[in-house]
Amino acid sequence: MAKEKNNESWEYAPSLESTAHIQLKEKYDLFIDGKWVKPKSGKYFKSINPANEEVLAEVAHANESDVNLAVKAARKAYTNVWSKMAPTERAKYIYRIARLMHERAREFAVIETLDAGKTIRESRDVDVPLACNHFFYYAGWADKLEYAFPNRKFESLGVAGQIIPWNFPLLMAAWKIAPALATGNTVVLKPAETTPLTALKLAEIIEESGLPAGVVNIVTGYGDTGAAIVNHPDVNKIAFTGSTAVGKIIQKSIAGTHKKATLELGGKSANIIFDDAPIDQAVEGIVNGIFFNQGHVCCAGSRLFVQENVADKVIRKLKQRMESLYVGNPLDKNTDIGAINSKEQLEVINKFIQIGKNEGAEMYQTKCNLPKKGYYCSPTIFTNVAQSNVIAQEEIFGPVLTVQTFRTVDEVIQKANNSPYGLAAGVWTDKGSRIFNLTTKLRAGVVWANTYNKFDPTSPFGGYKESGFGREGGMHGLSGYVKLND
Ligand code: NAI
Ligand code: MG
Repeated sequence: MAKEKNNESWEYAPSLESTAHIQLKEKYDLFIDGKWVKPKSGKYFKSINPANEEVLAEVAHANESDVNLAVKAARKAYTNVWSKMAPTERAKYIYRIARLMHERAREFAVIETLDAGKTIRESRDVDVPLACNHFFYYAGWADKLEYAFPNRKFESLGVAGQIIPWNFPLLMAAWKIAPALATGNTVVLKPAETTPLTALKLAEIIEESGLPAGVVNIVTGYGDTGAAIVNHPDVNKIAFTGSTAVGKIIQKSIAGTHKKATLELGGKSANIIFDDAPIDQAVEGIVNGIFFNQGHVCCAGSRLFVQENVADKVIRKLKQRMESLYVGNPLDKNTDIGAINSKEQLEVINKFIQIGKNEGAEMYQTKCNLPKKGYYCSPTIFTNVAQSNVIAQEEIFGPVLTVQTFRTVDEVIQKANNSPYGLAAGVWTDKGSRIFNLTTKLRAGVVWANTYNKFDPTSPFGGYKESGFGREGGMHGLSGYVKLND
């Protein structure tokens, strides 16, 4: 039942996803060598629900000795078991993990929403199904690697250290673990400090799957725990997704070592609307590109470029659509925009909003009532933005969009490429030839045509320039985990 709300949008009766079926422990230890072990550090930290600031669980804070144990376990499992196992057998374990995750999809979705603040619609429809599909997909590759590297000799690397962020916690764990296992490596994975819970639930599934002890180890902690993984001499590969600042630290730390790396870093991606685009679909694409997951998306379409002759129309329709977006409790199935992941991230976003105002850009924010407790941000757009403005150059990682106009194809290519980043782009036009022209000239790892933020395990993903290097997903995602010998 719906009733009318402050003349702009509709308010729906709440439709809360139940939390009755989830199982969370009060305290989580580290998952090392197939067992739950207390941290040598003796320390634990709290993971909270950013939607209401309530504590969800206490989680171990691993130090160097803990990481050392995890790497030792991973090395032993690599040498004695995993590297010797027939690929078809490896595939069965990966497949089993996918199946178990699939069976518990609802529990994973609810825990992800509680721990990260993202909407239940998204964790249910995007994060969890994609995470399952990554395991299913890479299970299929495990015994077909000779087709991925035809006429080449290849071998696994050994122990992979994997460090992931808080914006897609379970999905990023899947992106990292599935290809590493398929290619015969063992893993030490560290989830982000604000969102460790689904990785720990994944550890429970891994335990249940009977995966040999030590093949996957999950250690929780902060940046110091991540640094201990990066600097451990017996780690052969570092896979990192997170900020460009930490990506640079990692690159410096491993320079001159044998360690192989894949870095998936920030972005400031351009979403480009031409005058012949289907405008209503494009507006949905803009909303999906930047307000989806509260803008906590590395490939968010955070810079909008609209062809000048349709700019007024697009902006008017965009504002209208923004007014109907529902910001609030992420567990409510009606919610479009959930909670910002942490107090720190909300402060970062608010700082950029202030910078935008100071730079003289024109701000438009929707007039929604934000919940009193928890971390929330109204969808925000800035018009009258100059190319040199900080808000058009730096990654904000929140529901904040800058809008610029253009007249010609060459102009928009130049503007879109004028960024230290190069992760993704979107092009909206009716003309196929124009799409192909832009996809070859935009310096971005992914270019979506007449859509945005579409993901599939079979498609490679990764950046140019300061957005990092290496590809994850698809057949390309296997290369980061093997050594080619000829
Ligand atoms: P971050 O890069 O500090 O955190 C990502 C992961 O790296 C976490 O697991 C963290 O514990 C770990 N880490 C931190 N310092 C480390 C170090 N010295 N060595 C090894 N691991 C380390 O990102 P943060 O501070 O949470 O967010 C800051 C900004 O980064 C955001 O505002 C956003 O702009 C960007 N970001 C980009 C992401 C992406 O998907 N590309 C994801 C998350 C953040
Ligand atoms: Mg949390």
